[in-house]
Parts: sequence; structure tokens; C-alpha cells
Amino acid sequence: MKGIVLAGGSGTRLFPLTVATSKQLLAIYNKPLVYYPISTLMLSGIRDILIISTPTAVPVMRTLLGDGSRLGLNLSYAVQDEPRGIAEAFLIGADHIGGDSSALVLGDNVFHGAGFPDLLRGSRASLDGCTLFGYPVSDPERFGIGEVDATGKLVSLEEKPTRPRSNKAITGLYFYDNQVVDIAREIAPSPRGELEITDVNLEYLNQGRVRLVELSRGYKWFDCGTHDSLLAASQHVRFVEKYQGERVACLEEIAFRMGFIDAEACYRLGLELRQSDYGRHLTEIALDLAVPPAA
Ligand code: G1P
Repeated sequence: MKGIVLAGGSGTRLFPLTVATSKQLLAIYNKPLVYYPISTLMLSGIRDILIISTPTAVPVMRTLLGDGSRLGLNLSYAVQDEPRGIAEAFLIGADHIGGDSSALVLGDNVFHGAGFPDLLRGSRASLDGCTLFGYPVSDPERFGIGEVDATGKLVSLEEKPTRPRSNKAITGLYFYDNQVVDIAREIAPSPRGELEITDVNLEYLNQGRVRLVELSRGYKWFDCGTHDSLLAASQHVRFVEKYQGERVACLEEIAFRMGFIDAEACYRLGLELRQSDYGRHLTEIALDLAVPPAA
């Protein structure tokens, strides 16, 4: 499965924060926002990731993340020069996907929860068509919304409905089989001029090939498109890191725990950042979790 992080858009709702930088480079507590969606793909076991961003942000993302080899990843970059919709990611990323399945995550989506890695890997293994992830929200008119019947089957999907039929937001994480590229090529731009991801999902729904995984209690999801959600995500990450002693979206740690890099590499990455608490954490876990050499 190939991964795509769509980190485009001009972030106008966050002005003036995003006049001179991209939304996905803003801080969520102690690391750039884009780390969080990348961590979601890594926890799904995906190592081949295309990052799509604006012409000005791509060079900065490259400086931040490089070619990914330090994390045992293969990162590549592409430009979306105008915000022409989420589904355009599959046109821009068609070569990257090739004949494979794909996972798309939006660059401003933060997911966290116990058991999330298992849920991701299970969803990946059972993919048949398209898998969406739902999350209950109090402001459903801001999102793609899914409605399920009494058996939990998805029966309708609407993009930012004025009269929502449910409070189940379709989050910005999508797993698709290879057909998604052809579907994205077929759909027409919506009245707001964008290739809507909901139109892609509706095609899968019409084919009866959508599965909705509900992220229930114990999961947190933030779409960091507003000042309040940016702050809420930061507060959540701070709480978890400071009081529960766990790191969220610490990419080097995830790479190490997933077996993408070894303890020595993790230690070296930590040393480079040792002036920060983040770097010191990496050297500590590398030492703690390293298998001691045989006597
Ligand atoms: C987009 C999608 C929407 C989805 C949301 C999740 O909305 O169009 O269906 O629920 O992401 O973050 P946007 O954030 O572009 O307004």
C-alpha cells in the first residue's frame, strides 16, 4: 500500500498565522503538524509516502523531512499549485500509486488513541474497495458526513450538509484499492470548483464497496482547520506527553518501534536533536529498548 499526505491549501481560515507559512508546518505542541498524519501512515505499516503540498511549502517540507531514508521511509514530493480538491491527490499521485492500493491522509488531521495501530493494520489487511473512518462531532456541517443504518452499514454520504443526517464526520484518512485513480479521473469538479473526495467515496458507496470504521470512545481526532482545533490538538498532545509519559507522532520512535530503523540509528537521530527534550527522549528509548549484545 502506498501513502499520500495531502498538505496543500492556502490556510486562509487561519490568517494571519498562515500568510507566510503553510498550515501543516504550524506547531502542534512540540512538533510540526505534518508529523501527525505521517505517523498515521507509518503506524499503518506504510513506508512509501508521497507528500503533496504547495509550491512554496514543498521545499520547506523537504528540508524538514528529506528523502525519509533516516526514518527507513521513502518520501517523495509533488506540488498541487492550486487547491483543486482532495481527490486531485490521486491524479497527482497516479504514478506513485502505480498498481497498488493507497492510503490518503490529510495534512491537518491528527489521530490518536490506544489500539489505533492495530485498528489501522487490521483495516489495511481487510481492505475491499474503500475504508473510511468516522468520528462523532458537534459541528457536522463542517465535514463530510456519513449516515449508517441500524446494522451499522453506511447508507449515505454528504459533503458539508446544511441539514446533517448524522453527527458522524468522515475523517481525513481514506484507504482505497487501485480503482481510486480511475474514479478520481471520472468525477467532475463540484460547484466550488473542487474534485471532492466525497464524490469518490460516493462512487464506492454506489458499488457497495465502502466500509466505515467508527472511531469510538478512546480515540481523538482533530481536523486542525481552525484556531480552536489547533489549540485543542496541542493541549491533547501536551496532556498525553506530559502526564501519561507517552509520545504522540514522534516519527523516529515510531520508525524504531515499527522496525524501520534500528536502535543505533534511533540513538544517532536523538543525538542530533539532543538540545531538545524530543532528542533526549530518542536517545533514552534507543538505549532502553535496544537488545543488549549477547555476552
Ligand atoms: C475535508 C473533506 C471532508 C472531511 C474533512 C476531514 O474537508 O472535504 O469530507 O470530513 O476534510 O478533515 P476540509 O477540511 O477540506 O474542509
